[in-house]
Amino acid sequence: MRHIIALLMLGITSSVFAQNQLLIPDTLSGTTLNLNLQYGTFEFYPGVQTETMGANGNILGPTLIMNSGEFVDIYVNNNINDTTTIHWHGMHVSAENDGGPHTTIAPGETWNPSFTVLDKAGTYWYHPHLHRKTNLHVSKGIAGFIIVRDTEEAALELPRKYGVDDFPLVIQTKTFDTEKEIVVPSNADSVVMVNATRNAELQVPAQVVRFRLLNGSSQRVFNVGLSGNKPFFQIASDGGLLENPVELTRLQLSPGERAEILVDFADAELGDIVYLMSYASEFPNGIYGAVYPGMSAIQTLNNYNPNPINGADFNLMQFKVVNQTSSPVTTVPANLVPVTPLTENDADTTRNLTLNPVQMGPNVLNGEFLINNTSFDMDVINYTIPLNNTEIWSITNQSPIAHPFHIHDVQFYILDRNGVPPAPSEAGRKDVVIIKPQETVRFITKFEDFADDPVPYMYHCHMLTHEDGGMMGQFSVVTITGINDESTATEKFELSQNYPNPFNPSTVINYSLPKAVNVSISVYNLIGQKIATLVNNEYHEAGNYSVSFNSDAVSSPVPSGVYFYSINAGGFSSTKKMLLLK
Ligand code: C2O
Ligand code: CU
Ligand code: CU
Repeated sequence: MRHIIALLMLGITSSVFAQNQLLIPDTLSGTTLNLNLQYGTFEFYPGVQTETMGANGNILGPTLIMNSGEFVDIYVNNNINDTTTIHWHGMHVSAENDGGPHTTIAPGETWNPSFTVLDKAGTYWYHPHLHRKTNLHVSKGIAGFIIVRDTEEAALELPRKYGVDDFPLVIQTKTFDTEKEIVVPSNADSVVMVNATRNAELQVPAQVVRFRLLNGSSQRVFNVGLSGNKPFFQIASDGGLLENPVELTRLQLSPGERAEILVDFADAELGDIVYLMSYASEFPNGIYGAVYPGMSAIQTLNNYNPNPINGADFNLMQFKVVNQTSSPVTTVPANLVPVTPLTENDADTTRNLTLNPVQMGPNVLNGEFLINNTSFDMDVINYTIPLNNTEIWSITNQSPIAHPFHIHDVQFYILDRNGVPPAPSEAGRKDVVIIKPQETVRFITKFEDFADDPVPYMYHCHMLTHEDGGMMGQFSVVTITGINDESTATEKFELSQNYPNPFNPSTVINYSLPKAVNVSISVYNLIGQKIATLVNNEYHEAGNYSVSFNSDAVSSPVPSGVYFYSINAGGFSSTKKMLLLK
């Protein structure tokens, strides 16, 4: 196999594999965007139609172009025969608009999120996020880019003509069965594609060209580089531009991560071929993509070996150099934008998380993985975070495989990896960070703007097999200050002057009645739905009473978060905002 790879590197490919022109997704822009999730077929292999899913087409989805500060209204029509969701990965939107696993779109239904784009210019993406089916829906083909533009980025001399000198490249590996249908889940993903194109070729002008790289694979990590170790310049990480371009010959990209790079093709001869490669032979074990995905050869992963691309250098696609465009960008700018990371002194809270396997031993990689020894539960909020809290998340990988950790709502700054500050490449805004076996990564972030949503945000491993298997948790951002501000009660019907806040389901709330009246006490969630009736229009004599929010009072389990207690007694009413912590 190494010989074949060597031949590929020498460019003797046309007799081995025919090249296919790289697919470039259409763009969709404006303030009203329509996405139709649909079934389709796609010709990955000449003459063979493979069953796929896509948005507005057979495979992948259009690139959404958004402008920072603009309000967008999106209609997501689910025309597939399965419930799904669409998540705007990396974007800072309210939890309701975020498209996580609680925000399901039933078959035939339309979901209509709308939000103001608050993000910095950068490369984001969208993909389904239904619990236990994210891998299926993504692997079948639903995934698209989001390009956010802003004035800061527009002022720089950077290539930004989509499909001319600025190209989105989503790198994926998939598994096909003998009928050439996509197999999900699978650890035998040996088929490499960029923008759903196998053996892709892209004609690039002999000038500075920008590529927006996205690892859209279910599990595989890539060690991206160019043939001949040609240098390139990283200009952006997950959440936007870096302070300065970083000259590199390798760039590790784990599932969910993005990077924007500039490649200068000006010195190439017309017709030259430059390969975009993954130098996976350089991976240490303990990473999906190395020879062994675990720390030791004893820890095997079903169907992982043999696979010719594990631990080998292989081509992702090829660039063929053609004539310059008019008004080309010919230099890499020296400076980009100011980046001011939060510092450790800014932190209000530190949270410690561990990434654990369910079991140790040789079978460890085939089992599920946990966060803080627990598996994802839709009904449990793992963290309740005060709005505007600045937090350090310190995450330790106690398992023998690397996990790309992702968090919704925010962009973060990496403080350190095992105490060592991040390389320039990782010093910008991030929303995915790979955490290697025995490594502790600390990042810092601030939870701003969005709170008290009826649904929580997610954090999880972005290996989709792990995520689907429960390596995920959820958090709600809540406003703590002013939590008792909602009272309109008169002295006549005082609830106990100390509402226990936060409370838990068995917390007793006392109230006293100065005279006999009919009393109702109900609990509402943030969107005004009554979730429990604790007292239903009962006649009470004057006196002291107590009530608790016990489990019989509610129809289904309620997550931690903010609720409203409403008491109505003889025409007087009082509403108290309460934080439920389980
Ligand atoms: Cu890209 Cu929660 O996901
Ligand atoms: Cu996300
Ligand atoms: Cu994982």
